[in-house]
Amino acid sequence: MKDTALTKKLISWYQVHKRDLPWRGTSDPYKIWVSEIILQQTRIEQGRDYFLRFVKFFPDVFSLANASRDEVMKQWQGLGYYSRANNMHETAKTLVKEYRGKFPENAVELIKLKGIGPYTAAAVASIAFDKPAAVVDGNVIRVLSRLFGIEKAYDRPEGKQAIHKKANKLIDQNAPGTYNQAIMDFGAMICVPKNPLCHKCPIKEDCFAFRKEKVDLLPVASKPAQKKNRYLNYLVLILKTGKDDYTFMKLRTENDIWKNLHDFPLLETKSPVSFKTLLRKGLTADILGKTSFRYIESHMPLKHQLTHRTLYASFHVVHIHQTNQYLNRHFKKVKISAIDQLALPRLIDRFVENFFSPNNS
Ligand code: ADE
Repeated sequence: MKDTALTKKLISWYQVHKRDLPWRGTSDPYKIWVSEIILQQTRIEQGRDYFLRFVKFFPDVFSLANASRDEVMKQWQGLGYYSRANNMHETAKTLVKEYRGKFPENAVELIKLKGIGPYTAAAVASIAFDKPAAVVDGNVIRVLSRLFGIEKAYDRPEGKQAIHKKANKLIDQNAPGTYNQAIMDFGAMICVPKNPLCHKCPIKEDCFAFRKEKVDLLPVASKPAQKKNRYLNYLVLILKTGKDDYTFMKLRTENDIWKNLHDFPLLETKSPVSFKTLLRKGLTADILGKTSFRYIESHMPLKHQLTHRTLYASFHVVHIHQTNQYLNRHFKKVKISAIDQLALPRLIDRFVENFFSPNNS
């Protein structure tokens, strides 16, 4: 079958089966951009809630540009990959300052903005501005690999090129945004990774993988890199002053995970260790200094999966009777009752929710 006929069939399928998503009824590039960045982080169901909250809080590029970093992080909290939120904030400011608050209309210009890569540029250019830029995401890779029998690894240059070539041939020049969303929905609803619904597929007769019984074998990925473990030991210091209880937290600024979010004083080790070992090895020396303290308890480590890392975080609760110079210099003294006003990584938030919740004190 000709590529144009395939495109037509995908679009016909989409017109009947498309998902009802809150950003589908708009051609506002701001809302489309926000939805696409959020959807890179999470599944549609959760993304819908984050999207609605985010655009309610920041309804346009001006309100996002004028927000504080903490306000932006707070709305993003829980989605992970916080550099994406930071890039969005930066891009909103650039758009206001240098583009009079208007998005450029083509992918080549869009891609110059911070945090906008080939996928997002194509999505915004096609959906908001009807430009014929083909999106390539995980769904598209799967559909095209199966449909055309692309057996080269999609995460290597040759496979990538083969997929982009097909994507650009298949795109509907007159309705590029519709085509892009059609193929993504089709990948998410019919041509799914495991047990695809081939019996419902309108293009199965044209599908290489279906005809050759290779559906389970495509797409092909190169060997994944090994996931590495990181062991994070947090000191949850509690300073009781009689009136209020305080803890100490730090705004992470290093080029590592969780930039611009807060965490507790951290000691990272190469393997899991107890509080006693931290003490014995002198690792707590800077943080605790000469301050007298009382060790209270250690919590079962929380496991947290990132893309290329597995984090194991233990939380050691220690009461201190006064602060010290090192803490004053490097950490914020935070009233425990106000801790939920800070932007926190999901992992820290999981601990805080459990440990500092009102019925746990
Ligand atoms: N996944 C990410 N963006 C999407 C969109 N606009 N339509 C369908 N699936 C998507």
